[in-house]
Amino acid sequence: PSISRSTTINGKSYDLTGLDPRVTLLDLLRERIYFTGTKKGCDHGQCGACTVHVNGRRVNSCLTLAIMTAGKEVTTIEGLGQPGNLHPMQAAFVEHDGYQCGYCTSGQIMSAVALLKEPIGTTDEDIKQAMAGNICRCGAYPNILAAVKQVRG
Ligand code: FES
Repeated sequence: PSISRSTTINGKSYDLTGLDPRVTLLDLLRERIYFTGTKKGCDHGQCGACTVHVNGRRVNSCLTLAIMTAGKEVTTIEGLGQPGNLHPMQAAFVEHDGYQCGYCTSGQIMSAVALLKEPIGTTDEDIKQAMAGNICRCGAYPNILAAVKQVRG
């Protein structure tokens, strides 16, 4: 069987042939194909600003080599919704002011959307625990929690 050398990002195929295998998914997104909605905070897997989906699961793109996504589907905040056609989680963050400076927001939203499909409990504490990998230095946590709860129902 042939080995896939391409990855699909927001529905479009990208050829990874010749890409330095040390390039992270985060750097591929931001510096090579300019999906700059995904943010680099720590570059060490500690802040969550770089969260994207790979085959529907949330990952820290700073800890994921781009080549590891060959044959897989990557979704970034740009692929989630568009102005005028926001994903319900994006709309809830707007409605509840789930941000202040906005730097962590893409990662927060990508995590929040992924957790909708994860087997976590329904209490505030359960949601806070599930979102613990996404740091907000402005401290917008109460509003983020309100947004996530609205979409989870
Ligand atoms: Fe990836 Fe902070 S930039 S976790």
